[in-house]
Amino acid sequence: MAALSESDLRIQSHRGEYRVRFERGGLGALGASLTRTDHVLLDRRVATLHQAALAPVLNHPSLLLIDATEEAKSLDRFPPYVEQLVARGIKRSHRLVAIGGGVVQDICCFLAATLMRGVPWRFYPTTLLAQADSCIGSKSSVNVGAIKNILGTYTPPVEIVIDPLALDTLDRRDLRSGAGEMLKVHAIAGPEAFDELAADYAALWTDPAVLQRYVRRSLEHKQRLIELDEFDRGPRNVMNYGHTFGHAIESATAFAIPHGLAVTIGMAMANFVAESLGMTTAAHRQRMEPVLLANAGEFADHPIPAERLFAALLKDKKHQDDGLTLILPDHEGRIGVRVVPNDERFRSSCERFLASPVAPR
Ligand SMILES: NC(=O)c1ccc[n+]([C@@H]2O[C@H](COP(=O)([O-])OP(=O)(O)OC[C@H]3O[C@@H](n4cnc5c(N)ncnc54)[C@H](O)[C@@H]3O)[C@@H](O)[C@H]2O)c1
Ligand SMILES: [Zn+2]
Repeated sequence: MAALSESDLRIQSHRGEYRVRFERGGLGALGASLTRTDHVLLDRRVATLHQAALAPVLNHPSLLLIDATEEAKSLDRFPPYVEQLVARGIKRSHRLVAIGGGVVQDICCFLAATLMRGVPWRFYPTTLLAQADSCIGSKSSVNVGAIKNILGTYTPPVEIVIDPLALDTLDRRDLRSGAGEMLKVHAIAGPEAFDELAADYAALWTDPAVLQRYVRRSLEHKQRLIELDEFDRGPRNVMNYGHTFGHAIESATAFAIPHGLAVTIGMAMANFVAESLGMTTAAHRQRMEPVLLANAGEFADHPIPAERLFAALLKDKKHQDDGLTLILPDHEGRIGVRVVPNDERFRSSCERFLASPVAPR
């Protein structure tokens, strides 16, 4: 492992401290540090797009290339992963190395938790979503058939290396998806933090230094919540802002809208509904709306069928007997957990959102 640096983030977890290193060219440097006790899981698209930087990794004796699809993180895909790692002689003292976005992360993290009851893993996130959000927080999530993210563990990596050069090849849609999670965590940090990011939003796409600054800040905001509540029993719940609606939007559109963009629309919907129910002010909704629209508008080209949305909304596992558990802004724009009755008023506010110019069509 590289020497400690002051710019590292140090995250506390139930498994001890782990570091996030920011290293320009980190992907290119990885090959030289690999040993025979490392087993690499690599996103196939990243392998192609970063062929030159990853040349030594591509020649590593234990390499699993993964197509980053939801099917790839389905439980029934795991036997070949395990068989290949065992054929390459994996032992408990060895280490897994994940290179890719959230899909490769989830596969590697789940394997690290369960293979021989635990193998250490390192992570090189290559999507904006993974760099700015999912790389910390310990969670793995695996699909079973059509049931998304139903299996999972809390298994932090031993180290994360963020290489900004990885993002150079990322599609516009995936960049916006990552920005959705960045907007979310800044909204949770408070109106001031959100407004600052909103003011710099356009510069994210023209100035790599600005993007890097907000990747780091997003992780710092998330760090505070996961260190307080790693196992998501209380304070960390607010990280689901935009997600109850977002997951329902993903499901109602058959996953045509990528996660972070569904979350962006989900935040706009949460704000709209909170205002309709008198929980927040028009000012807070209007303050956030332009940047949410700027992030998702271009890709929100799938109409959301209301009945499918309601069916998906009601399935959310966080709901209670007396109503829907939603993460909504209050009158000061602070994001918190609220229980909202599942009644006609709630339904009609959702329907009005779907008919508003902000909703996808
Ligand atoms: N475990 C967690 O905490 C957590 C949190 C959020 C999301 N997730 C999961 O992560 C997944 C979404 O992750 P994601 O948005 O990172 O997407 P992803 O891993 O599906 O990658 C998106 C696309 O980008 C490609 N890609 C990756 N890196 C690239 C690069 N540098 N250049 C060009 N293309 C690149 C991939 O091949 C894929 O086509 C979902 O399955 C979600 O459930 C997990
Ligand atoms: Zn998310």
